[in-house]
Amino acid sequence: MTHAAKIAELAARHAIAEEGGGPDRRARERAAGKLSARERIDLLLDEGTFEETDKFVTHRATDFGMDTQRVPGDGFITGYGRVHGRVVFVFAQDFTVFGGSLSESNAAKIVKIMDIAMRVGAPVVGLNDSGGARIQEGVVSLAGYTDIFLRNTLASGVVPQISAILGPCAGGAVYSPAITDFTLMTESTSYMFVTGPDVIKTVTHEDVTKAELGGALTHNEISGVAHFMSHDDQECLATVRELLGFLPSNNLDDPPRRPTQDPAARADTALDAIIPAESNQPYDMVDVITRIVDDGYLFQVHEHYARNLVVGFARMDGRPVGIVANQPAFLAGVLDINASVKGARFVRFCDAFNIPLITFEDVPGFMPGVQQEHGGIIRHGAKLLYAFAEATVPKLTVITRKAYGGAYCVMSSKHLRTDLNLAWPTAEIAVMGPEGAVNIVYKREFDLTLRRAEAVMPQGVTLSEEQKLAILTEIRQEKVDEFRERFANPYVAAERGYIDAVIRPSETRRRLNAALDMLSTKRDRNPAKKHGNIPL
Ligand code: HXC
Repeated sequence: MTHAAKIAELAARHAIAEEGGGPDRRARERAAGKLSARERIDLLLDEGTFEETDKFVTHRATDFGMDTQRVPGDGFITGYGRVHGRVVFVFAQDFTVFGGSLSESNAAKIVKIMDIAMRVGAPVVGLNDSGGARIQEGVVSLAGYTDIFLRNTLASGVVPQISAILGPCAGGAVYSPAITDFTLMTESTSYMFVTGPDVIKTVTHEDVTKAELGGALTHNEISGVAHFMSHDDQECLATVRELLGFLPSNNLDDPPRRPTQDPAARADTALDAIIPAESNQPYDMVDVITRIVDDGYLFQVHEHYARNLVVGFARMDGRPVGIVANQPAFLAGVLDINASVKGARFVRFCDAFNIPLITFEDVPGFMPGVQQEHGGIIRHGAKLLYAFAEATVPKLTVITRKAYGGAYCVMSSKHLRTDLNLAWPTAEIAVMGPEGAVNIVYKREFDLTLRRAEAVMPQGVTLSEEQKLAILTEIRQEKVDEFRERFANPYVAAERGYIDAVIRPSETRRRLNAALDMLSTKRDRNPAKKHGNIPL
């Protein structure tokens, strides 16, 4: 055979693989608004960088007529390429081949790229679109899944792992994305659930659609299983690329610094007037963050979930940083179960991958309520505390307004080895808010005042509720003002060194950048142990 003929034959084989499950199935997918597995890989990676592995692997099943239905690659495309010039491993499931189901052979393809990704220290991106375990293969397919779960777990904290859900992801298959660091879903084409609507109907008699049960909105807003929601495949893959741009390739690398035109010491005077005059008035913490970080850009993670806490990536003088911030514009920025879990997971990711943490704090405390207590706010709130406490990356905190009670301790306070704790002059740092505090501390005095007022009333006449309220309002306000003056400010904490500096808000960016420079050689370590026991 001539050289040219040989190349032509190889090209023909390539064409078969690209065909996947054939034109009809492909057309169905396209009509549903889905790209092919290969198109997805092309969009994910830098142009022309994809190197495919195991293209000629086929399944080994012979039952159910499977021996006559072999597709090169067995429905999964695996390999590596580059994103922003750095190596990334990728697998993409092709729904047109046996519904993208997982077989012994194609599971081994994933295992192979995960093993080498671990050896070279590069991220793994999974493009999921699968009907789950290949039914014709039975337990062999379950074994394949479990081989992947094990690798997901071993790779956790070593290389970033990202799961894009671009079609079905059901049954035990969901547990691979669940172990990875970030899950992205597309709005109308993806869904995830352990048991689907039909099983639910049989077992619990509930009626629910696939989208309600496990669509992108559900998992972004309600369950928190997904971190990003995209309109379609294109947007989703662009988001994966952007996300990778903030991350190091592995836990021994620094995150990639980029040149920036934004001056490191830029002052934003609007920050000096951004906190409302009244302490219970809301404002948008995202406004504060974007005035401080490079180019006003915050890449939010979990944007639709537990909106009382904002987390995401930004850059400071070109360095990627992780932002954790209370959001006074939503539930007054209170810490509840979901916000605690959201924050803890993000903090631990940043700590595992050498990404400095900047905390912006305005928190009235932990959310009160029977539902929260019975839901385990103690256990879940402790996760955030634990995460900040164990983190050894550079940690910086800016208290913009409230820092009350346990939430003060939790939100990267000085006592948790935070490297720099700044406060704006509007900061209020105390055990609790002035209103709550005076009600407890002065309860006896308030009762006594009312009894005295009653004592001077004519015989048989008692104080009306309005009169009582008027008397109490006056003296309570005095006490509240006194308390605010004495405690609800940053200076008591600053006197003790719990706050390193009380700064003008407009100089926050300069201060933080100077500290990040200073901390670029930070070395800190936790005691040697197998692993800690975070309250899960
Ligand atoms: C083999 C499968 C398959 C599977 C789908 N197909 N799922 N083949 N094993 N698991 C095939 C179908 O036979 C069909 O082949 C093609 O893929 C497309 O499937 P459709 O049903 O026509 O597509 P659609 O209507 O879009 O429905 C998609 C679906 C449905 C909801 C995913 O296919 C489905 O319910 N599949 C089974 C899901 C499931 O129960 N999987 C096992 C879950 S348990 P043709 O030839 O007609 O094109 C599990 C355990 C993992 O995964 C455990 C890990 C520990």
